[in-house]
Amino acid sequence: MTQDEMKKAAGWAALEYVQEDTIVGVGTGSTVNHFIDALATMKDRIQGAVSSSEASTEKLLGYGIEVFDLNSVSELSVYVDGADEINEHNHMIKGGGAALTREKIIAAVADQFICIVDNTKEVPILGEFPLPVEVIPMARSYVARQLVKLGGDPVYREGVTTDNGNVILDVYNMKIIDPVKMEKDINAIVGVVTNGLFADRGANQVIIGTPEGAQKR
Ligand code: A5P
Repeated sequence: MTQDEMKKAAGWAALEYVQEDTIVGVGTGSTVNHFIDALATMKDRIQGAVSSSEASTEKLLGYGIEVFDLNSVSELSVYVDGADEINEHNHMIKGGGAALTREKIIAAVADQFICIVDNTKEVPILGEFPLPVEVIPMARSYVARQLVKLGGDPVYREGVTTDNGNVILDVYNMKIIDPVKMEKDINAIVGVVTNGLFADRGANQVIIGTPEGAQKR
């Protein structure tokens, strides 16, 4: 099985968590694109979706799935999204697609975070994948200096502006032993909008695409 076929297996398996007549939280990325394909098969049985990125919104609308503003939605039963890394405690690094802040906001609203990944995303310790940090543009250099003090090597993601008009610092060489503490410490730096650690609120359910098909844990 190719990596994309494993992503597809995970994306389609998430359909069973979607409840009829609800609004579904939809994340961003190539694995989520498979989930959106699956969701389209029951589009007449859901109210619609909220989306974490312009890219996912476009794909949802292309299928005729209504996309709601999160401010008009009081509850979400599920949020389905991918991850760049995930450990055995269901803590994740996200934000490879620069949509981390919107993802974190939707995850906060949802009752259940359903994480869909292929098996290459499983790691014993988070941090091999550079940790994305969304930063207010004028704070970029200050935040970078503070991230160095936390032990990382921040690199400005050239040419990328987030959907919120901010910039991304990718932090290399962080061995993240305590993801919950690290998430809080980075978010406490003035000028940081949020960081890509999803540990304080990790995934409730993980669906892993493997060569044997989708496995849940
Ligand atoms: C988007 O900002 C990320 O958090 C994605 O969830 C992550 O990059 C997963 O992407 P793929 O499904 O394309 O691997």
